[in-house]
Amino acid sequence: MSGTWLVRGARPYGGEPVDLLLRDGLLVEAGRRLAVPRGARRLDADGLVALPGLVDLHTHLREPGREDAETVETGSRAAALGGFTAVHAMANTDPVADTAGVVEQVWRLGREAGLVDVRPVGAVTVGLGGTQLAELGAMADSAARVRVFSDDGHCVADPALMRRALEYVKAFGGVVAQHAEEPRLTEGAQMNEGVLSARLGLAGWPAAAEEAVIARDVLLAGHVGSRLHLCHVSTAGSVEILRWAKAKGWRVTAEVTPHHLLLTDDLAATYDPVYKVNPPLRTANDVEALRRGLAEGVVDAVATDHAPHAVEDKETEWDAARPGMLGLQTALSVAVEAMVHSGLLDWRGLADRMSVRPARIGGLEGQGAELAPGAPAHLVLVDAEARWTPQPGELASRSRNTPYAGRELPARVVATFLRGEPTVLDGKAVR
Ligand code: DOR
Ligand code: ZN
Repeated sequence: MSGTWLVRGARPYGGEPVDLLLRDGLLVEAGRRLAVPRGARRLDADGLVALPGLVDLHTHLREPGREDAETVETGSRAAALGGFTAVHAMANTDPVADTAGVVEQVWRLGREAGLVDVRPVGAVTVGLGGTQLAELGAMADSAARVRVFSDDGHCVADPALMRRALEYVKAFGGVVAQHAEEPRLTEGAQMNEGVLSARLGLAGWPAAAEEAVIARDVLLAGHVGSRLHLCHVSTAGSVEILRWAKAKGWRVTAEVTPHHLLLTDDLAATYDPVYKVNPPLRTANDVEALRRGLAEGVVDAVATDHAPHAVEDKETEWDAARPGMLGLQTALSVAVEAMVHSGLLDWRGLADRMSVRPARIGGLEGQGAELAPGAPAHLVLVDAEARWTPQPGELASRSRNTPYAGRELPARVVATFLRGEPTVLDGKAVR
């Protein structure tokens, strides 16, 4: 099926160096000074940290509909360069991914690009309209085998509809991923509600708008015994509610974005719309609680919410700009800065939150597996000592809206392997 690679001297989870033999899509051997099999290609990975390929639960690829901002191919390339081997493509495309036809289209485009496994997310409601359940079963049965359903960008605000969606996905082991935002509390909102929004004269997005929906939905998930996932949790209060819901034994998981682990709301004072995102950047206290929640495992995963936007939608006044920031190519570096350099997680812990658990939540077989003989050869090699400075024009995304332009970050992806074949070598995409 594919070639043979001998990866020399890599350090799985930052531990002792070993050689890794990849053959026919599998990691077949791990050990010291393995002989080079005939015909095998060699990669000198001296001292590089090896992790299972990263899995993103939350990526906006913009195709179909906004191919000027991103395509499945350009987003897949950014993902591979960021160390990902699988991404979940959000449903807020145009047309919306609310039918078997659209999710199959996205899935096929992902296969054609061949740089990461693209798993389409299906919309919960028709057209993300929030009033009528989409054909969840048809999307689950389609070639795309959808397991994650989300109206992301919009909240499923109607509690009765949310309950029905939760009950419905049980039949095929699916999960509803909620964008928790009580819409009546965020009308016109531009940034985190607090002292700063008052001073800047920008309409506030209160923490309670997120927390109220999370509280409601964990209760619903507990009541009907279904799986609920919470997208991009952003407040200290959300972490508290999650801790409580998990203590009850309810089947609730949550993700946090890299930007909510590093950036704070005072960046809004620049009025640079690159910092406008939904949910908004919060306070340093929230950042601290999110980091601790992720370290404890109350928050299960890091998910990028990679949200590319065309220049005209982003480089405009704050009020008119679309919310969202790029994330795929910088996620690992930001997570290393926030979680590893702070001593809150080690490399194994980071692999758990960026690969193992997201693969489990998304129901992705073969992804997020332990780096051990017999596992599918999805892996990323990271130079932990490197530092780099993202420049918007040099990222693979078709859009430029990175909040880290000109900001030095730690750790660089040197190589990514998908099913034993490199998608990234020497820090460059192979195609
Ligand atoms: O900032 C965001 N951008 N948050 C969302 O929920 C949607 C996303 C987008 O699609 O641009
Ligand atoms: Zn969202």
